[in-house]
Amino acid sequence: VVTVEDPFAHLHDEDYAHVFDRGFVGHQTLVQGGGRSVQPLNEGWRLTLDLFDEGLRQRWYADDECPPSQWAVPRDYEIEAGKKVSVPSCWNMLQPEWRYFEGAAWYTRALHCEHAPDGERLILQVGAAASSALIFLNGRFLGGHRGASTPFSIELTDALIPGPNRLQIMVENRRKRDGVPMHHFDWFNYGGLYREVSLMKLPAVFVRGVRIGLVPNSEGARIFIEVEASHPVTEIATLHCSELWDHPQDIPLHGGNGRVEFEATPKLWSLATPKLYDIEVRLDRDIWTDRVGFREITTKGTELFLNGEPLFLKGVCVHEDDVDLGKVSTLVDTRRRIADIKALGANFMRLSHYPHHEQVARLCDEAGILLWAEVPVYWAIDFGNPSTLADAENQLLELIKRDCNRASIIMWGVGNENADTEARYRFMRHLAEAARAADKTRLITAACLIDREKFAIVDRLTEHLDVIGLNEYFGWYEPDMSGLKRLIANSGPEKPVIISETGADALAGHRGSGRVLFSEDWQACFYQQQWEIITATPWIVGLAAWILYDFRSERRQTGFQRGFNRKGLISEDKATRKQAFHALADMFRSHR
Ligand code: GCU
Repeated sequence: VVTVEDPFAHLHDEDYAHVFDRGFVGHQTLVQGGGRSVQPLNEGWRLTLDLFDEGLRQRWYADDECPPSQWAVPRDYEIEAGKKVSVPSCWNMLQPEWRYFEGAAWYTRALHCEHAPDGERLILQVGAAASSALIFLNGRFLGGHRGASTPFSIELTDALIPGPNRLQIMVENRRKRDGVPMHHFDWFNYGGLYREVSLMKLPAVFVRGVRIGLVPNSEGARIFIEVEASHPVTEIATLHCSELWDHPQDIPLHGGNGRVEFEATPKLWSLATPKLYDIEVRLDRDIWTDRVGFREITTKGTELFLNGEPLFLKGVCVHEDDVDLGKVSTLVDTRRRIADIKALGANFMRLSHYPHHEQVARLCDEAGILLWAEVPVYWAIDFGNPSTLADAENQLLELIKRDCNRASIIMWGVGNENADTEARYRFMRHLAEAARAADKTRLITAACLIDREKFAIVDRLTEHLDVIGLNEYFGWYEPDMSGLKRLIANSGPEKPVIISETGADALAGHRGSGRVLFSEDWQACFYQQQWEIITATPWIVGLAAWILYDFRSERRQTGFQRGFNRKGLISEDKATRKQAFHALADMFRSHR
């Protein structure tokens, strides 16, 4: 019996996506760049939007590539009809009618590959895809990734054919009940391949990841290194650093992993002298490199220390948001951000509310700026959903694996302003424990909420944190500072507290004396009042002003805002510095 496939079956199949729910790659398969050369795949893409998921329903990925003139029956997808785009980019910024698109989109390009020499491994590296991605090569599904802001690696080796291959990445940015973040957040929901996409060619056995740093409590005299190989090999990897040792150090691997500690007295990385060392790890024919600083961040009681010196964090929060490029962080944008941080006299930046581009921490390593990096466990999350917890934990471990060798990052943030329920407590305690298990050289924090009944800094999650983050907006969302004074009087934390957000909106150019909302004058006055209280409280070890630049948020629709959150110290043109910028810069400069 010849069964003619029903050409309309896809219209009645609402279960079309479940087959792609498996095969998610994550931190275990992530390959650190390790300074290895890559073939950029940023050009030559065709992009087709797909609001109704026709690509999965009608299996666009399985189409052959014959031209329309040779089609026996009509189709709904034609690669060459897609818009020619390059990445990194956000589709929202490519065409006016795509500004608010929330759905799926298909990126397709040819991938020419001379046959890999025996054993060579070909790894697709994606810097980030907002918010999830499915990868197809020549019509074969290779795997998917969840998480809008962390990198992922997918091996192409066995799926590549000699000559031209068809690489397709379906990216979708729908907001979801079980997402991380969920479907409600105060930033713009950009979509697309908004960081670099590249092909890495590696030898048969290669270094998947390295972690190196000072052994905690070793007075800066011992270095640890952990090496993870691509395969469970039993071999010797070698660590090379001519500034530290005059000969390579052996790292025996068993089952593909090895950890060794070495005597060494590196010049410590600090804000004043951000010393970096060029290191190499060799395994077989693979050479992994990085530039790392050695430093120790600790707390004692309610104080914070960098290399044993007391530390006060004078900082500001930043989103990834650009009026022209959306979520894309170019090198120019990152260098400008660091120049503004330095001009502000800040020593600290909170990378809100999700992992930022890898280059930010690398440039802060060089500039001597401290960082709080975090995952978007933001506001309401489906805390009782195991799949959501797995997603959050994977994003956290991908962030740590990517950035574990960045001296500038001193804290991992596991959440922001999450209502204190039993499910939230278990979810975030798990994340705090996962972060601590993965990295014993950094502090764990979260932006906690205020207990409104006790009117105190009371949040049971804090017993699992090293530093308590507190977002407070007394003087903006609440009319005056009396609440902040009352909160401080009612609180006696036993750990350091950082004001992880505080700020007020101001439309650049809007002036007024006294409490004139959205005026530059009130925003500046707000910071003067906040600063006086914060710096008079011994257990507050710093603040991160909310926020460096005005940024897009659809939640903000007054005449002052028009789709922007205006709490920036600088307007969205990233050039117009408001009164508050100068006021805060004066306060930062005057502080020890
Ligand atoms: C919250 C939240 C931010 C938000 C800010 C604001 O604290 O963490 O993401 O943008 O307040 O209200 O401007």
